[in-house]
Amino acid sequence: MKIRLAVLVSGRGSNLQAIHRAIGNKVFDGEIVLVLADNPGAAALGFCADNGIPSKYIHPGDFKTKLEGAAEQAYIAALRAAAPDLIVLAGFMRVVKPPLIRAFENRIINIHPSLLPKYPGLHTHARALEAGDRETGCTVHFVNEVIDGGKRIMQARVPIRPGDTEASLSARVLKVEHQVLPAVIKMFADGKIDYKTFPAEPMIFSAK
Ligand code: GRF
Repeated sequence: MKIRLAVLVSGRGSNLQAIHRAIGNKVFDGEIVLVLADNPGAAALGFCADNGIPSKYIHPGDFKTKLEGAAEQAYIAALRAAAPDLIVLAGFMRVVKPPLIRAFENRIINIHPSLLPKYPGLHTHARALEAGDRETGCTVHFVNEVIDGGKRIMQARVPIRPGDTEASLSARVLKVEHQVLPAVIKMFADGKIDYKTFPAEPMIFSAK
C-alpha cells in the first residue's frame, strides 16, 4: 500500500530528508502527507517548502519539553485531518502525552540515538562516551507514555572509536539513523509490523 506519513520535527530534519529520499528512490511506496514543527525556525520547514511537502508550524503551548492541553489538541486535529497511517517523530524534542498517543494508538514511532533501554532522554552520545562504552547505536520504537520506553522495533549498532567526540559519534550514528528509519517505514508499508504481534526483542538492522 501507499503509506501516508506524518512527520513531527523540531529542527534540522535530516531524518525527514532521509524519508523523503527513500520515497524518491522507491524504497517503499509512500507519501509525506504532513510535517508538523514545534519551532518556526526549524530547517525542516524550509526543506518542506523547497520540496512541496505540506508542512505547518503549530505553536506548542507554554511548556518547553512537552505537548499538552490546547496545543496538543491542535496537533491532534491537524494530524487527524491529514489521515496518516503512521506518525514518525524525527527529532521532535518534546514528550507526547496520552491524548495524542491514544488518538493514534500504536501508529506513532520515534527514532532515538542510543541502544534503548540504554540512555533514554537527552545527551545520549555524551553519556555513552562518559561511560566508556565501546558501542552505541540507534533505536526505532513505538511511542507510549514512557519516555523512549515503547516497544522497540529495530536497532542498529555503531562502534565507538578511540578519540571519538560527541560530534564525531553523533555524525556516525546519524548516518545509520538515515538507513534504519526508512527500513522500518518500509516494513510498515509492507504490512509486516503489527504492534500486537511484534516480539519483545527488536530486529537488528544490518546494512546491505
Ligand atoms: C536524531 O539524532 C534523532 O535520533 C533524535 O534527534 C535527532 C534529529 O535529527 N531524536 P534530525 O532533525 O532528523 O536531523
